[in-house]
Amino acid sequence: MTRDCTFLVVGGGIAGVSCAETLAICCPTESVLLLTESSIVKSVTNLVPVARYLHKFDVREKNVTELRAGIAHIVDQLEHIASKEHWARTKSGLVVKYRYLCLCTGGAPKLFGPGQEERIIGIRDTDSVLELQRRLASAKDVVILGNGGIASELAHELQSVNVHWVIRDDHISATFVDVGAAEFFQLANKETGLLDTTTASTAIKRMRYDEMLPRAQEQQQIKRGAALGPDWHRSYDLSGAGSSVRSLPKIYSKTHIEKLEELPDALRITLKHDDDDSIEQLSCDFMVSATGVQPRHDYTSDVPLQLAEDGGLLVDEMMLTNLSDVYAAGDVCTAAWSAASKHWFQMRLWTQARQMGAMAGRSMAAALENETIYQDFCFELFGHVTQLFGFPVVLLGRYNGQGLGRDYELLVRCTRNKEYIKFVLQNGRLRGAILIGDTDLAETCENLILNGTDLEPYGDDILNPDIDIEDYFD
Ligand SMILES: Cc1cc2nc3c(=O)[nH]c(=O)nc-3n(C[C@H](O)[C@H](O)[C@H](O)COP(=O)(O)OP(=O)(O)OC[C@H]3O[C@@H](n4cnc5c(N)ncnc54)[C@H](O)[C@@H]3O)c2cc1C
Ligand SMILES: *[C@@H]1O[C@H](CO)[C@@H](O)[C@H](O)[C@H]1NC(C)=O
Ligand SMILES: *[C@@H]1O[C@H](CO)[C@@H](O)[C@H](O)[C@H]1NC(C)=O
Ligand SMILES: *[C@@H]1O[C@H](CO)[C@@H](O)[C@H](O)[C@H]1NC(C)=O
Ligand SMILES: *[C@@H]1O[C@H](CO)[C@@H](O)[C@H](O)[C@H]1NC(C)=O
Repeated sequence: MTRDCTFLVVGGGIAGVSCAETLAICCPTESVLLLTESSIVKSVTNLVPVARYLHKFDVREKNVTELRAGIAHIVDQLEHIASKEHWARTKSGLVVKYRYLCLCTGGAPKLFGPGQEERIIGIRDTDSVLELQRRLASAKDVVILGNGGIASELAHELQSVNVHWVIRDDHISATFVDVGAAEFFQLANKETGLLDTTTASTAIKRMRYDEMLPRAQEQQQIKRGAALGPDWHRSYDLSGAGSSVRSLPKIYSKTHIEKLEELPDALRITLKHDDDDSIEQLSCDFMVSATGVQPRHDYTSDVPLQLAEDGGLLVDEMMLTNLSDVYAAGDVCTAAWSAASKHWFQMRLWTQARQMGAMAGRSMAAALENETIYQDFCFELFGHVTQLFGFPVVLLGRYNGQGLGRDYELLVRCTRNKEYIKFVLQNGRLRGAILIGDTDLAETCENLILNGTDLEPYGDDILNPDIDIEDYFD
C-alpha cells in the first residue's frame, strides 16, 4: 500500500492542525495529508487579538473529518521515516511518499514510576485540573509531585483535601504565574464573607530581587509545612483580612520519592529528604504527577534526527530539523534560536504550538516555491494569554525574570478581586509583565518591551492607577 502527497503532517494536536491548515491555505493546489493517531484532533477557535502580536483563543476537540477542505487524513501511527527517499511508513504498513514532512507529535506527560498505577494520575491541561478536582471530592489526602505551573495551580486549587506537595527544589517556583499572583487568585476566589469586597484597595510596591528571596528561617518553616510562600509577597499587604482560614498545602521541599507501594485502599509513599537523607512516609488516596512533558518521538528514521538536551527535535528559525525536508513544530521540538533571543523563550504551550505549526507550514510552502521568507514576528516576544480562576491573564516577555539573573526589579500593583499587574524592570526598561484582570495594558507593554523605552523618568507613576500610562506613550 502506498500513497503520495506533497505535504505530510504528523500529529493531530494544535501544532499539527495549525501546520496543515496553513499549508492548505498557502498551497490550495497541493495535497496536504494529516497522519494522526486518533480521529479526535485539536483545533483553535474564537481567535481574538489582544494586542498587536498576542491572541487569545480556545482549544476545541473535533473529529478529523471536520477539518477544512483540502486536508486529507489517515488515522494511524507513524513508525519510520526514510528521509533520503522521502517516504514514511505507518504502523499498519502504509507507505506515504512525501515532498515535505512535518513532525508534530507533541509530548507525553512524564509520569512517575513504571506507569499503570491506579492511584497515580497525570494531567494534560487546565481543564482536566478542574475535572480532577471533582474526582477527588471524596479523597482525604492527595500528593502532588512537581514544581511547575500545573503543580502550583493544583496545590492552590485543591482546598478541601490535605495536599502534600513534593518538590525537588528548595522553594516553590511557579513557572506559570508567580506566588504573588497565586495569592491574588486565592484571595479572589475565597468569597468567605470575611473579605470586604466592596472596598477594593490598591497597593503598589517596588522590590529589589534580594527582597524577593526567601530567608533561611522562612525556608525552615516551609519545610515543616507552615507556610505556602517563600517570600516577598508577605512583606506586601494584599490587604489583609481573612487569609488565615485557608488550609495550606504541606510542602516537602528538597525531597524525592524513594518508594511507592499500592495498598488496597491507599498509596504509600516513602520520601527521602536530600539534605540529611532522612526518610518520611505518607499515605494518600491519589498522587498527581505534574512533572512536565517529555517530547514524544517514538518512531525510527534512516538518519538520526538531531536532538536538543531536553530530548526535543532541534529546529532552526524555519522549523527545519537537521534532516532535509523534515520539519518539526510544537512540544516535540526545541528551538535552537531561543538562547540568542532577547525577549522570547520557548515554553511548551498552546500559544507556541500554534505559532510554530503555522511557521512550519509557511516555511514548507516557501520551500516548495523556492521563496525566501523570514521568521514570524511573534518569535520576537514571548506572549501567552490564558484564563485562570476566571481572570484573563497575559504573560509577556521575561514575566518571571527568566534569564535575568539577579539584576532586576519588580513593580507590582494589586487591587483585590480586580487586577494584579507586575512589571519586571531591568535598567529602567520593561523586560516582562504579568497582567491579570481587564488591565488593557497588553499592547502598551508590548511596545515598551520591544522599544526598550527608558521608564526611569516616570518612577512608580507607570503603575499609578490615577494616571493612564497609555497617555504617556501615545
Ligand atoms: C498538564 C498540562 C497542562 C497544560 N496546560 C496548558 C494550558 O493551560 N495552556 C497552554 O497553553 N498549554 C498548556 N499545556 C501545554 C499544551 O497542552 C501543549 O503545549 C500543546 O498541546 C502542544 O501541542 P502539540 O500539537 O505540539 O502536541 P500535542 O497536543 O501533544 O499533540 C501531538 C499529537 O501527535 C499525536 N502523535 C504522537 N505520536 C504520534 C505518532 N507516532 N503517529 C501519529 N500521531 C502521533 C498525538 O496523538 C497527538 O494528537 C499543558 C500541558 C500539560 C502536560
Ligand atoms: C468521526 O467521524 C467519522 C465519520 O463521520 C466517524 O466514523 C467516527 O466514528 C468519528 N469519530 C469519533 C471519535 O467520533
Ligand atoms: C543529524 O544529527 C544527527 C545527530 O547529531 C547525526 O547523526 C546525523 O548525521 C545528522 N543528519 C544530517 C543529515 O546531518
Ligand atoms: C525550485 O527549485 C528546484 C530546484 O532548483 C526546481 O526543480 C523547481 O522547479 C523550482 N520550483 C519552483 C516552483 O520554482
Ligand atoms: C514603540 O514602537 C511602536 C512601533 O514602532 C510605536 O507605534 C510606538 O509608539 C512606540 N512606543 C513607544 C512607547 O515608544
